[in-house]
Amino acid sequence: MKKTIIAMAAMCMAASASAAGYTLLSPDGNISFNIGTTATGTPVYDVTFKGEPVVGESTLGLVADEFKFTDGLAMTVVATDSVDETWQPVWGETADIRNNYNEVLVSFADAKGLTVNVRARAFDDGVGFRYEVPEQRGLNYATLRGEDTQFALPADMTMYVIPGDYDSDEFLYTVAPVSQLKEKMPNPRHTESSRIPGLAAQTPLLMKHPERPLYVNIHEAALVGYPAMAVEIDADAKVLKSHLTPDKNGVRAYLQAPFVTPWRTIMIGDEATDILASQLIYNLNEPSVIEDTSWIVPRKFVGVWWEMFTGGKTWAYSDKYNAKPGVTDYSALPSNGRHPANTENVKRYIDFAAENGIPGVLVEGWNEGWEDWGGYKKNRQFLFDKPYPDFDLEGLVDYANSKGVKLIMHHETAANAADYERQLDRAFDFMNEHGYDAVKTGYVGHVIPRSEYHSSQWMVDHYINVAQKAADHKIMIDSHEAVRPTGLMRTYPNWVAQESARGGEFESFGGNPPSHTAILPFTRLKGGPMDYTPGLFEMDLSSYGQGNTSRGLTTLARQLALYLTMPSPLQMACDLPENYRRFPDAFQFIKDVPVEWRDSRYLEAEPAEYITVARLDKNSDDWYVGTITNENARKAEIDFSFLPKGVNYTATIYQDGADADYLANPQSYKISTKKVNSKTRLKIDVAPGGGAAIRLVPVK
Ligand code: NOJ
Ligand code: CA
Repeated sequence: MKKTIIAMAAMCMAASASAAGYTLLSPDGNISFNIGTTATGTPVYDVTFKGEPVVGESTLGLVADEFKFTDGLAMTVVATDSVDETWQPVWGETADIRNNYNEVLVSFADAKGLTVNVRARAFDDGVGFRYEVPEQRGLNYATLRGEDTQFALPADMTMYVIPGDYDSDEFLYTVAPVSQLKEKMPNPRHTESSRIPGLAAQTPLLMKHPERPLYVNIHEAALVGYPAMAVEIDADAKVLKSHLTPDKNGVRAYLQAPFVTPWRTIMIGDEATDILASQLIYNLNEPSVIEDTSWIVPRKFVGVWWEMFTGGKTWAYSDKYNAKPGVTDYSALPSNGRHPANTENVKRYIDFAAENGIPGVLVEGWNEGWEDWGGYKKNRQFLFDKPYPDFDLEGLVDYANSKGVKLIMHHETAANAADYERQLDRAFDFMNEHGYDAVKTGYVGHVIPRSEYHSSQWMVDHYINVAQKAADHKIMIDSHEAVRPTGLMRTYPNWVAQESARGGEFESFGGNPPSHTAILPFTRLKGGPMDYTPGLFEMDLSSYGQGNTSRGLTTLARQLALYLTMPSPLQMACDLPENYRRFPDAFQFIKDVPVEWRDSRYLEAEPAEYITVARLDKNSDDWYVGTITNENARKAEIDFSFLPKGVNYTATIYQDGADADYLANPQSYKISTKKVNSKTRLKIDVAPGGGAAIRLVPVK
């Protein structure tokens, strides 16, 4: 608050210093962000990196029923600032994050004196800017119709994008030059009405320059009180135009001055590894609002989950569809005998977790309501304090406690967010009463109220409300089907993971091509960790004889590597205990691998092709290395010079067998040990669709 007052005072003092344009440089001087107006008073900016264009001259602007900040504006430089600080995330890829930037605040005024400010920050790894509408006479409420933020591409950039959709991010990527996107990008959409008309893509998106070394990621940071941004793509003009999710009436946001928009972010690097290492989005988010974070405990988990994907088993207790409106008592329905969230089976998972030092067990299908899937037509479907009759919740909580394991709660809302909000206090009290400290939420289906989309302003506020309320109850959240993350996990570190992309569940619906997980770390993961659910050991789902003939498109060794290339503080071992028991030597890696890191080094990477990363455990001196490839075999060259000098390590290497192949022979792997130190260079053969994972323990 105090800071705001000082900033406002500074604004008033400097308000008379008018300027034609302003150039903001990154601390290392490599990135320049230039802001000004055109001859007709349209606000514009451009970005260069090492003297070459990254974003050509592009418009800025905000349009509401009450104002139109798009032209006829005069710019004034209000204030500048520089910050260099280091902060400690509660969890993540590194123990320390440096936040180092130069900042400018400019103001654009129209003929009537109405103003919109733009605050921009230039970091060594990119820029962020946002609109700030101050409190002012003549502007109170705003009914936002759109944003005129554009990104002019410097060339026929190669795009790594999923199609623009208001409701879902669960799509495969298209990799193509922007000029060919129209022909190459398939058009899968969540629903007909959730389509963004024309050629559009979700952020975070990645772009690569066709000739010079340049990688650019476009996304947003701190999405609060505002709809998510996608981009319309004008392939001829090579321009991306911001497209905000509307409500069903076409309104993008209902706002009241003073307000700020999310940051528009442009991550920049001349190597692909720069994008992977960038912490720009977290740096643009507010510090944690939770003071005592000791109860936020990252962990691995297994779960009653994959059984429902392999075929035959159900989340629901009964096959009887309880269609009577208003009836919410399911206890009298007959069991279908195919309900894995039952006491005996859950005990089996608890035993397995306890035997293997896995601290968490997720149970899906434990509560009443699943018979009414699609019950969004009704007021209430799921009850978050009502276990099915075959799930002895209290007995299981005691049993888990006696074995040192924690049950993880599941709240599928069927996207009835309105009803979830009504039940939230009770649902979280119920968790507190029974000692649950983490919940996986889900938003499958059409959002209730039906005027909203998964990425609209109202829903954005809903997810944050849930995270905030969860924090009040000391509960961690892992949200599925929520809006794509924008680094808010810095502010709400109990919001430990999200899905918000096409995750591992799709290995049971046709498979995720290996390139998919070689793109996600450059795109979706820049907003926050993903509950991807790695650890698939049985790829052939037809082997269950339950009618599912899908095949996981991965080798077994690759699944181990995903624990390093797709880090998450809440990390699943998705497969069935019996499959892990078949491969105990490979499962050892999943038992060992941590979920919190002191340091991370991206050793080599190329989007859609390969990623090799080394990470230092937050709580020991063990290093881990993970490498993955796409559908092509390759030789990973691992340079261990990141290791401290003079220390020898025993490396346990889990890699694809000589005959491994993600399609023909996915379960072929070999495990070997080697002495390595900072001088070691290792070549590792990675199979098509394969990977390798290494654990390095210092020799005492
Ligand atoms: C979709 C989620 O992504 C998945 O993990 C969950 O099992 C189902 N919804 C059911 O809630
Ligand atoms: Ca999902």
